[in-house]
Amino acid sequence: MSIVEKLQRRGFEVSLESMEKNLDDVAGIRIICSFVDDIYEVADMLVRQDDITVIAVKDYIKNPKPNGYRSYHMIVEIPVFFSDSKKPIRVEVQIRTIAMDFWASLDHQLKYKKSLIDENGEISRELKMCAEVISDTDQKMLEIRKRIEAQGVRVRKE
Ligand code: GTP
Ligand code: MG
Repeated sequence: MSIVEKLQRRGFEVSLESMEKNLDDVAGIRIICSFVDDIYEVADMLVRQDDITVIAVKDYIKNPKPNGYRSYHMIVEIPVFFSDSKKPIRVEVQIRTIAMDFWASLDHQLKYKKSLIDENGEISRELKMCAEVISDTDQKMLEIRKRIEAQGVRVRKE
């Protein structure tokens, strides 16, 4: 959805000042992790950063969206330095596993086409089932890592 559409839909004026004041997610970054546990580790690291202020958290892993979407979202405020000033900027941070990103990418590709033909919601149900299978697999992969680490081997990407 475009920034202009978003402002209009919410009944705000369409201007740069209005965008800065009313929208939290104009800037965004996505962090892709290997395992579900890594997501919470990354989130903790961000929280512990002195210059990052956490404005809001939405845990769509513990509480997936009704369509099956999973990800950990944070709105954070970070200082951006200009030549003569420092200004806090709000950024939407999405943290997810490779598997969650796989689902979200394909879901996004199918979204608009789907709405044209999915009268009885069957495609949406199938997509949601895929999200659940993927989530089970994420859990199993994490258990495998934990079993390996229980043997004293540290599994980590360098
Ligand atoms: P509000 O901001 O609270 O109105 O909710 P929202 O529906 O905009 O969700 P949120 O702000 O938490 O997340 C927005 C971003 O998350 C989107 O720009 C997408 O990148 C991603 N996202 C949220 N839901 C979905 C989904 O169902 N499918 C995909 N592929 N991405 C999603
Ligand atoms: Mg949003």
